[in-house]
Amino acid sequence: MSVHDFIRARFVRTAYAEPVDVTGKTMIVTGASPGSLGFETARTLASWGASVVITTRSNPDAAADALRARLQYAEACQRVEGQALDLSYSDSVASFVRWFVENHGDRLDVLINNAGIHLDLLSRWTEPRLTDDGFEIQWRTNYLGSAHLTHLLLPLLEKTGQATGDARVVNVVSHLHVKGSNDDLFGRTRPYDSWAAYGNSKLALMHMTRELQRRYAEESHVQAYCLHPGSVFTRVADKGLEGTGMIEKARNALSPVEAFFLKTPEEGAQTQIHCATYPRLAGGLYYEACHPAEAGKDVEDTEVAERLWTETEAWVAT
Ligand SMILES: NC(=O)c1ccc[n+]([C@@H]2O[C@H](COP(=O)([O-])OP(=O)(O)OC[C@H]3O[C@@H](n4cnc5c(N)ncnc54)[C@H](OP(=O)(O)O)[C@@H]3O)[C@@H](O)[C@H]2O)c1
Repeated sequence: MSVHDFIRARFVRTAYAEPVDVTGKTMIVTGASPGSLGFETARTLASWGASVVITTRSNPDAAADALRARLQYAEACQRVEGQALDLSYSDSVASFVRWFVENHGDRLDVLINNAGIHLDLLSRWTEPRLTDDGFEIQWRTNYLGSAHLTHLLLPLLEKTGQATGDARVVNVVSHLHVKGSNDDLFGRTRPYDSWAAYGNSKLALMHMTRELQRRYAEESHVQAYCLHPGSVFTRVADKGLEGTGMIEKARNALSPVEAFFLKTPEEGAQTQIHCATYPRLAGGLYYEACHPAEAGKDVEDTEVAERLWTETEAWVAT
């Protein structure tokens, strides 16, 4: 072990997902731009045998080409496809699902809701930044967009679960879900705070995980998981510091130091890979470092989970 690796191992501990043969399975990984957790997740899943559809907001073909360039076998390269998806636009979600059904029929083994944003790392916003349809942008993208996609794909997941006994939804959340609060999931009760908004979006995805498990695991064999990937050196901070001038410049200059103390995207992707593949993994739980972990107390409230599900379902129907 080099000195570099020895010192780094003191700060960054990674549990690795055990390789599983997933040949014949079809998986979707949202938000798989090069340099992201989604990209590394898709790379491993394709190399373990899955057919993987990756999504990015723009240039999905370039992302798929970059992924193929990182795969060792031509066979694995053929199993990768890129498709555009912007979770903050309902039309984009609907047209992605139409494309998927036209091209893949009704088989979907695993949906990984990985795409996400955390845009105001310095907590400078005093008012929410809104999407075109009027929602706080992080809530709209991380929760509502992913929930919309999940609801539209559920019939496929159910059908696959019933046929194979194992379909999965994997929601990439964050330990920052504790910044959110059940009190704010149905309307804001506190002054706007962008970190709380990010936390709410992840807390809501955790409620969705539990509700999915409660409603679909037993009869349809659709298991649901949520997880914190760790602190990972991706492009999430580039976007979160965009426009901050000197701070952005300083961070760029210091990025090798930051990278040293954070997980690489490959290291960070391990828990979501584990949740997507490990045989008979217990569903409805929150994972960290490839093991079940303790979640914030608000996640325990089953009435909130049920109400959120019903209201989201009604919103999707409109
Ligand atoms: N990195 C960490 O330390 C960390 C910690 C906890 C949780 N997470 C979570 O991990 C997930 C992956 O993040 P990452 O660290 O890999 O960040 P990243 O490098 O910024 O990747 C995020 C991905 O999401 C996509 N995306 C952004 N907005 C979107 C939208 N409106 N519709 C569809 N896709 C969109 C991005 O596409 P573009 O390239 O087009 O922007 C990108 O592919 C996120 O859910 C994040 O909240 C990350």
